[in-house]
Amino acid sequence: MTYSRIAGTGGYLPEKVLTNKDLEKIVDTSDQWIRERTGILRRHIAAAGETTCDLAEQASRRAIEAAGRQPGEIDLIVVATTTPDQVFPSTACLLQSRLDIHGCAAFDVQAVCTGFVYAMGVADNSIKAGSARCALVVGAETFSRLLNWKDRTTCVLFGDGAGAVVLEASDEPGILSTHLHADGDYASLLQVPHGVSQGYDAMQENAAFVEMRGNEVFKMAVNTLGRIVDETLEKNNLRKSDIDWLIPHQANIRIINATARKLRMSLDHVVVTVQDHGNTSAASVPLAFDAAVREGRIKRGETLLMEAFGGGFTWGSVLAKY
Ligand code: ACO
Repeated sequence: MTYSRIAGTGGYLPEKVLTNKDLEKIVDTSDQWIRERTGILRRHIAAAGETTCDLAEQASRRAIEAAGRQPGEIDLIVVATTTPDQVFPSTACLLQSRLDIHGCAAFDVQAVCTGFVYAMGVADNSIKAGSARCALVVGAETFSRLLNWKDRTTCVLFGDGAGAVVLEASDEPGILSTHLHADGDYASLLQVPHGVSQGYDAMQENAAFVEMRGNEVFKMAVNTLGRIVDETLEKNNLRKSDIDWLIPHQANIRIINATARKLRMSLDHVVVTVQDHGNTSAASVPLAFDAAVREGRIKRGETLLMEAFGGGFTWGSVLAKY
């Protein structure tokens, strides 16, 4: 049996930092409100002209280096993004060219904040099936481009960034299981309600901005993430105490705390970066993962539970031995 294992991680954040105090000058909000309701203190924002592929390239180079690999060894590229550089080609194809990789499969996955978890599921299955041996899995977003900077209920929540993982074939796991779900009936609670096929007009007021019914999303996220934790543990015959690290989607500290409580996990074993990154959508889990690896907190042999929830609704988890 072939499994996939995590060979290396990388992350990249744009230079520009936007603090809560900065936001006070843009919309009717306060540092205190944002801290208390979300846990966010600051977020990174891509410079004018800096694209999702730019961020993805930096994160990917770091992950490939950490894995001790050369770009030419990569034989599958999956990029999770909601904010592609272009309608097409996919950001994965643009990234492939940047990395001077040729011929391997490269495609994007769109599952909003759950995108990286979906991409890991796809790459893990490709390696298990024998169709890839060394996959580059990326979550990258310039989510700030989708924000209405006049809407205080959404613009304070999000940031830009990219995280990447190299998965390689191995005789031992690695990835223990992945769990992917969606329910499109909830589309209207969290959406950008415009797109190419609807005759998208970039010049319109409110052309393509995130709209969210935050309160309802919050409740669904807490309940759904609790269930995905149970599902993942049951499938693997594990107890809550077997998990060394929870690496949650970084949307809101209150959602993260609720999931940690459900796992009876001390916050010392939960990777939290939401204070510095905000919600970077598909980039949030791999960015948090990379930060904890580089800080030496997550160590080889430890059991990791990654989970995410996002627009769609989509939700999912990855259980892995690092
Ligand atoms: N500054 C100051 N006041 C604000 C702000 C702000 N930035 N935003 C909203 N308020 C006000 C509201 O207008 C409201 O005022 P009112 O009582 O006078 O009507 C009050 O604050 C409370 O608003 P709520 O929406 O009830 O606040 P809540 O405690 O629910 O927090 C939040 C809002 C942070 C958005 C929360 O609901 C949340 O985190 N939701 C989930 C977000 C999430 O997880 N998204 C999932 C993934 S995202 C993705 O997939 C793309």
